[in-house]
Amino acid sequence: MIPLTLAAVAEIAGGRLHHATGDELVTGGVEFDSRKVADGGLFVALPGERVDGHDFAAQAVADGAAGVLAAREVDAPAVIVPPADPETHSGSVALAGDTDGSGAAVLQALGALARHVVQTLAPGGLTVVGVTGSSGKTSTKDLIAQLLEPMGDTVAPPGSFNNELGHPWTVLKADRSTKHLVLELSARGPGHIAHLAAIAPPRIGVVLNVGSAHVGEFGSRDGIAKAKGELPEALPSAADGGVAVLNADDPLVAAMAERTNARVVLVGESPSAQVRAESVRLDELARPSFHLVTPRGKADVQLPLHGEHQVGNALAGAAVALELGASVDEVAQRLNGLQRRSQQRMAVTTRDDGVVILNDSYNANPESMRAALKALASMSRGRRSWAVLGEMAELGDASVSAHDEIGRLAVRLNISRLVVVGERAAAMHHGASHEGSWGEESTLVPDTAAAVELLRRELEPGDVVLVKASNAAGLGVVADALLDPAGAKGATA
Ligand SMILES: Nc1ncnc2c1ncn2[C@@H]1O[C@H](COP(=O)(O)OP(=O)(O)OP(=O)(O)O)[C@@H](O)[C@H]1O
Ligand SMILES: [Mg+2]
Repeated sequence: MIPLTLAAVAEIAGGRLHHATGDELVTGGVEFDSRKVADGGLFVALPGERVDGHDFAAQAVADGAAGVLAAREVDAPAVIVPPADPETHSGSVALAGDTDGSGAAVLQALGALARHVVQTLAPGGLTVVGVTGSSGKTSTKDLIAQLLEPMGDTVAPPGSFNNELGHPWTVLKADRSTKHLVLELSARGPGHIAHLAAIAPPRIGVVLNVGSAHVGEFGSRDGIAKAKGELPEALPSAADGGVAVLNADDPLVAAMAERTNARVVLVGESPSAQVRAESVRLDELARPSFHLVTPRGKADVQLPLHGEHQVGNALAGAAVALELGASVDEVAQRLNGLQRRSQQRMAVTTRDDGVVILNDSYNANPESMRAALKALASMSRGRRSWAVLGEMAELGDASVSAHDEIGRLAVRLNISRLVVVGERAAAMHHGASHEGSWGEESTLVPDTAAAVELLRRELEPGDVVLVKASNAAGLGVVADALLDPAGAKGATA
């Protein structure tokens, strides 16, 4: 964070000083958890579902915080923020436990601080890159960060820490040495992305895809496209350096070219894409290789990530890195050396007995299910393939048909065995049972324990197993159990 006095924090936040001279200097990061505050940090007091951060303000300062951002008076040097402005705050997601609006007030002040930091740093060369889409934001954010790091200090959130807290928290990590700030912008409703983009205005915006994640909240895919398009709309004009990186292979994304004044760079496998993948092939672990074709030259790429869907993510990253000065060869080299940074996303582990576990249990929606099933199918090549699948949450009225479709797809892709975990995903089992001549191949089990029991009993050396569901279904434990030496014959990464 750039050093700021509490007086400056008060001015930026439109708040008032309390128990403070104003000279207290904030030099560390912001924290919401008093136990995590470092010396010189700013403790942000938020109401929680069980405890109220304001009750920990004095302790945070005793532990080294320079001051507190608070909605009411506390027994410590603080900036007391004004009530939230409903207009400015309308795009923000409500905070659980915020019964009196104090959380919204503090978050609005935090957003103002984050905006101030970006405005201060941008003229000195900070570039903000925003990534949105229905699937692959975290994967692509990690990938872009790795492409940019060799070119200068890069700040990106850990994992999927991109919500109303994680977004400003990450932005406030930037300081004068930061060259790139890579942010994941997610939406659960209209206005959310515009709100996040106003806090930290991106110069480069990436839209990956429009799928059906959270369709329950948006009403339709067009509603989702409208919301994702708030990112290209928020970009500066081409004359001011704005660049919209859009997926040429997704018509709803390519159409966003009409909604931006930024320069458009299309990426994908379509001939219209300026940054293009040609001759995509998958190896035996579904790792893609392709010819990267760009206006600045060509190179061969072999991604160390699994699944063909990673190609689009890699192209988006390549376009960003090329914009920021990397050569095509550098981009290819860095893509070839990528590491998977966030957990439970297409994590492939081969056990000592040759069983391959594909752990993609972090999240699921119909598009990422399809992507993972295709990766599984391409990895089977003579092996028995197992899809262990649980509920895709938040699909609203589309839920039953979406689950049914995935079950049918498993049959069409020739997956050997489907294990559907939990009654909420039962439509997958029914879909599979109605497609083709499946009988024993699909099994509905009540819970993860039953899934583990079935798999331990029936897995054979060389089988390949995909484990995937929405996070709430908790299928990560199935993957963990299969990799646990107590249950298997041992594992190697
Ligand atoms: N381009 C893509 N198309 C379809 N699925 C993808 C794509 N990229 C990644 N995925 C899959 O989507 C799932 C979620 O990936 P990731 O966490 O990167 O997405 P996200 O958009 O950040 O999700 P969230 O909305 O939970 O933040 C994983 O199963 C991943 O393999
Ligand atoms: Mg994410």
